[in-house]
Amino acid sequence: MEQITEKKKVILSCIQPTGTPTLGNYLGALKNWKALEEDFFSYFAVADLHAITVKQEPKELKERILRTYALLMAIGLDPEKSTLFIQSHVPAHSQLAWLLSCSTQFGELSRMTQFKDKSKAHPENINAGLFTYPVLMAADILLYQPDFVPVGEDQRQHLELARDIAGRFNGNYGNVFKIPEAYIGKHGARVMSLANPEKKMSKSDANTNSFISILDEPNIIMKKFKRAVTDSEAKVRYAEGKDGINNLMGIYSCTTGKSFEQIEDEFAGKGYGDFKVAVAESVIAELEPVQQKFKDLMQDRAYLKECYRTGAEKAQRMSARTLAKAQKKMGFIVD
Ligand code: TYM
Repeated sequence: MEQITEKKKVILSCIQPTGTPTLGNYLGALKNWKALEEDFFSYFAVADLHAITVKQEPKELKERILRTYALLMAIGLDPEKSTLFIQSHVPAHSQLAWLLSCSTQFGELSRMTQFKDKSKAHPENINAGLFTYPVLMAADILLYQPDFVPVGEDQRQHLELARDIAGRFNGNYGNVFKIPEAYIGKHGARVMSLANPEKKMSKSDANTNSFISILDEPNIIMKKFKRAVTDSEAKVRYAEGKDGINNLMGIYSCTTGKSFEQIEDEFAGKGYGDFKVAVAESVIAELEPVQQKFKDLMQDRAYLKECYRTGAEKAQRMSARTLAKAQKKMGFIVD
């Protein structure tokens, strides 16, 4: 009988090495990457070139790149199954970004909310890279012809722009790029700050009580959840205006797989104190094996190097092919 071999679909995503990833990065993106790895042909990268749009201390950046790479492996991504690489090791990202920037309008980039937010946060350093950042992100994606890009809600606008750029390029020069879809999880797509649940949880927040870092010690995690801002109703239920509780329910749903209804039943008649402890315990249990594996990996830098070098070679092969195709269509001499 003829064997039917279905070609696996492709996914790609990246994370910036701008600090230790938070529970938001984990639930909104990394955890989904791990879940998808089995069924997809996957590319995951540390987006180090993106990090320099804000000022970085070189020595610190270097260490963070390695730590972020190790964290990808610590959450369980397998360098044999997926292509795990560091963006700056693959020159095609910078090269394609330039080509795509000539298919991107000033007005489009001006509308990016992240550009507006970051310009406000760093008025002393509104550099051109901060402005063209979404073009580099489009290059990261389009080089690998992915079907899906698993990200948190905050990256949706950048992904939409990448789709627009790809469509325009294909229209002008001929078909080169696949137009990818965002893959955004139902829960965890927007984990909010514990101190101000109207704001997203962010690793660059000055208030360290507002976020859980993936590497926070159990007692710190417990302390941060106990302090989390809630409301005065003292009833665990999902409802408009209960941003703090809604956020904790979203987190608990991600770590336990329980629906909001099940969570409401579980805590019926109990106070927020019990609920916060349960949420913290579920997060501690989820992160414990990741933290252990991270410690082990950081002891073996030679192994990490072997993995990121192999990852770069694999990424290089695929990206060079797409880049050459784009260059050829545009009229550059490639042979
Ligand atoms: P970054 O490094 O800010 O975040 C990495 C991933 O984590 C998600 N995320 C969240 N999800 C839920 N709740 C939160 N509070 C939260 N905070 C962050 C992000 O949506 C993201 O999926 N520009 C990207 C990195 C990037 C990229 C790419 C992503 C560069 N090139 C190509 C996809 C494809 C960024 O800054 O993510």
